[in-house]
Amino acid sequence: MSPASAPGKTLGRRAWEFEEKVVKEMEQQEAKKVMLSGIQPSGDLTLGSYLGAIKNWSSRAEQFDCYYFMADLHAITVRQDPALLRRRTLEQLAQYIACGLDPERNTLFVQSHVPQHAELGWVLNCYTMFGELSRMTQFKDKSAKNADNINGGLFTYPALMAADILLYQPDYIPVGEDQKQHVELTRNIAQRFNGIYGDVFKIPEPYIPKVGARIMSLTNPTSKMSKSDNGDTGRVTLMDDPAHIMKQFKRAVTDSDTQNCVRYDPENKPGVANLMTIYSAVTGKSMAEIEAEFDGLGYGAFKPAVGEAVVETLRPIREKAQRLIADKAYLEGVYRAGREKASYAAQKTLRKVYKKVGFLAP
Ligand code: TRP
Repeated sequence: MSPASAPGKTLGRRAWEFEEKVVKEMEQQEAKKVMLSGIQPSGDLTLGSYLGAIKNWSSRAEQFDCYYFMADLHAITVRQDPALLRRRTLEQLAQYIACGLDPERNTLFVQSHVPQHAELGWVLNCYTMFGELSRMTQFKDKSAKNADNINGGLFTYPALMAADILLYQPDYIPVGEDQKQHVELTRNIAQRFNGIYGDVFKIPEPYIPKVGARIMSLTNPTSKMSKSDNGDTGRVTLMDDPAHIMKQFKRAVTDSDTQNCVRYDPENKPGVANLMTIYSAVTGKSMAEIEAEFDGLGYGAFKPAVGEAVVETLRPIREKAQRLIADKAYLEGVYRAGREKASYAAQKTLRKVYKKVGFLAP
């Protein structure tokens, strides 16, 4: 419809254009796709998760309606120290905000604050098969690692994860490779439920981001840098102080190349390639530029240069996280607002589910 023939003709051109803009914005808001992800508060975030994922999250809020939660219900499938779990949950929230996740534009909340997760989790347990749960590779891995505590929660964890997801009717679930199997199972559970009761759940897609570097351990460059590995030699976290970061980089594993050549060859020089990937991610330089920069200088110059670049990248993040951690009232405000928004959305789905399965209205 052209402005001239529009019903708003008498409004005058400026007013009409304004109205049109508002309507368009409202439509965009409604059409925004929903994205959700959960993160276990099991330790400080690593440089690997920052460069590989979180760094790119802040720009997502423009395009998607994003929910991120601290998965504390999941964390207790392995034994946790209560005071530490509480502290890490709060600190992880601070770290996310420090990385650029704006709480005004993303819904940030704590899983245990929204009881609908546990409630739908129970219901979905009854629509998830023993055989399906037995096939989950994470269950097999974790039960091998925690042989003295193979509890029921560890086994039924994927049904809770399905509830986490399906409550919010999301379009996309951004996850790493290791969680794809759980998202697949979530889709199967949702399809099974919908098959019995009609369209209750939206069927979500896994979302494997195109951008983001894959950062490996500094001491074992063929395995991923992880926050849950025992010992911290291969890892740098967002909260490490500069001296510690420098130490980690100075002792990073390279190779026995007698030329000490800084060359990008992930196959034959995985340690150097990993350091180059890190350096490239924090400086924006290409691999060719990095090779030229360190031509003839060797590892002795290269490793501390990577360390310094990482220190400068992480400095503002660490300082901001520290300021936020000191401001408990602010963080409480963030997770309370998040809980409110999340439970509103979650309750809408749960109410439908309870009705469908035949629970008497209270
Ligand atoms: N299982 C995920 C992990 O271990 C965390 C998680 C829990 C999650 N619920 C989720 C991720 C829902 C995405 C969506 O990393």
